[in-house]
Amino acid sequence: MSTSHPPLLELSDLRVAPVADDGSVGKEILKGISLTLRAGTVHALMGRNGSGKSTLSAVLMGHPKFRVTGGSMKYLGEDLTGIPVHERARKGLFLCFQYPMALPGVGVAQFLRQSVKGVRGADVPSKEFRPLVKKHLEALGIPQTFMTRYVNDGFSGGEKKRMEMLHMLLLEPRLAILDEVDSGLDVDALKVVAESINRLRSPERGQLLVTHYQRILDYVVPDEVHVLLDGEIVRSGAADLAREVESRGYEWLAKGAA
Ligand SMILES: Nc1ncnc2c1ncn2[C@@H]1O[C@H](COP(=O)(O)OP(=O)(O)O)[C@@H](O)[C@H]1O
Ligand SMILES: [Mg+2]
Repeated sequence: MSTSHPPLLELSDLRVAPVADDGSVGKEILKGISLTLRAGTVHALMGRNGSGKSTLSAVLMGHPKFRVTGGSMKYLGEDLTGIPVHERARKGLFLCFQYPMALPGVGVAQFLRQSVKGVRGADVPSKEFRPLVKKHLEALGIPQTFMTRYVNDGFSGGEKKRMEMLHMLLLEPRLAILDEVDSGLDVDALKVVAESINRLRSPERGQLLVTHYQRILDYVVPDEVHVLLDGEIVRSGAADLAREVESRGYEWLAKGAA
């Protein structure tokens, strides 16, 4: 990858605090995150519960509950701060949720088509949309009847994650942020999720794979691994760092041991 192109994602000393309902800004959750993710790579962001993983995922997508209080987050050289969520999506960002929301009354097919339309800025003809969906349904092991259900309404954990993968594969995001897509999945569903992520890998795209456990990284081998602890990246390394965390636990890094 040529270094003359701006990285897909560049975080420099990024600081983020929560915004309460009354508009007051709370104590910083992210305390200076720096990270460079180049096109063509997958980065894993690991950390125990409460370390700030979901906060980072949410602020990248533009969640109004979080405020950038310092530093910067750049996507293809452009500062994301202040850019509305739908525009970030149009620019190629996608967030896979840890806890996908149910949308009773909204059909899966309608939802996906609207979403693709929103991101592309133009309607998707049925003759293009149908075979595309069919291809992904087959790859994900989802029955066609899934399309007539309401989004995530009564879905099992595995079905919700398959729904997220279907959505992601249809949008083909330039930068996908996956917040604990592996949580609570049995090994078959985990493999389906991993295959989806791997299918999306290309020289133009990148993925930030947020996870608590090393398990998914057996199937999606990351180019870089970062360990987040209390809002700071305490260690970055290659894929084997994830295995080291798995065997030694997060406490090992919490104590600042070598
Ligand atoms: N909206 C919020 N208001 C106040 N504190 C928050 C808010 N969201 C998250 N936090 C706090 O920030 C810390 C990091 O949370 P989170 O990003 O969800 O961590 P993780 O995803 O790594 O488990 C936690 O201590 C959590 O309680
Ligand atoms: Mg989380």
